[in-house]
Amino acid sequence: MSDQAEKLRQMTLRSSIVKSPVIKKSAKSRVITVTSGKGGVGKTNFTVNMALALAAFDKKVLIIDADLGMANVEVVFGCSAPYNILNLLEDGLKITDIITDGPRGIKFLAGGSGIYHLANLSAAHLNHIVSQITLFDNWADFILIDTGAGISRNVLNFVMAADQVILITTPEPTAITDAYAMVKAYAGQNGSAPLKLVVNRVFDRDEGEMVVDKLMRVSQRFLNIPIENLGYVYEDRCMVKAVKQQIPLLLAFPEAISSKCIENIAKQIAFGKNMQQQPLGIKGFFYKFLEYMY
Ligand SMILES: Nc1ncnc2c1ncn2[C@@H]1O[C@H](COP(=O)(O)OP(=O)(O)OP(=O)(O)O)[C@@H](O)[C@H]1O
Ligand SMILES: [Mg+2]
Repeated sequence: MSDQAEKLRQMTLRSSIVKSPVIKKSAKSRVITVTSGKGGVGKTNFTVNMALALAAFDKKVLIIDADLGMANVEVVFGCSAPYNILNLLEDGLKITDIITDGPRGIKFLAGGSGIYHLANLSAAHLNHIVSQITLFDNWADFILIDTGAGISRNVLNFVMAADQVILITTPEPTAITDAYAMVKAYAGQNGSAPLKLVVNRVFDRDEGEMVVDKLMRVSQRFLNIPIENLGYVYEDRCMVKAVKQQIPLLLAFPEAISSKCIENIAKQIAFGKNMQQQPLGIKGFFYKFLEYMY
């Protein structure tokens, strides 16, 4: 297909989504993409445990696992999700059939590779999927998207389409360099969603502050991108133990120092800055997601 024909197809798809009857102008749900430059810095564990902390503040949370190929959220949650969003196109399956219920009323949707096939679907199929998922715009306060590692096009699409982005790094120089590369890619695409930073696995407060200071300073100075500091999470053996037990940290070790750090960050997400901004919700997310897909 020529580039122009493909662009036209995309425009038609997007306008059909926006005109869909289930889509309202404003949404309740805030879509937050959790990402990093380097892999293995703690995204999945942070996402699951922040969801639990938000749920403890009476917030309704849906987690979408957008990590292609690796069912990481399932493993951390200790639950299984047999379906992904493409199964919505199968006879009779509804969104309620493909959602897994986690602890504290959290709902979990496995995106799987299905997410990356969305742009290849017919308008009717795409509309069906989007209209099912947008039912969550009336339910969820927060939709947390756990991405895979690296600055691939796939990951960037989730970053660009979100209402807010949480960037995770550790104090390791490689992780900081890769986090900066992610901010650079985001700046290169004219990203506009607020970027928030979490430094995971810090040994002490000074180490956390040094990383925050460094990344905030260079991003502002060289990329003109402001980053908000959400704080840090301590290096904690309880996290490793919880992962091994396949019980989320906040449930296995609620009094652990890392649990307290995550609760503190969740408090800022639930009640802090930027909360006045009207979220675009999952409907807005899909609209932007398809826009960036090409
Ligand atoms: N605060 C912490 N203290 C100690 N260990 C931690 C901490 N956070 C994460 N870890 C360790 O790092 C491992 C990787 O975490 P996780 O799977 O959440 O990373 P990820 O960024 O999602 O990885 P990927 O990029 O592969 O998706 C965990 O299994 C755990 O052992
Ligand atoms: Mg992960």
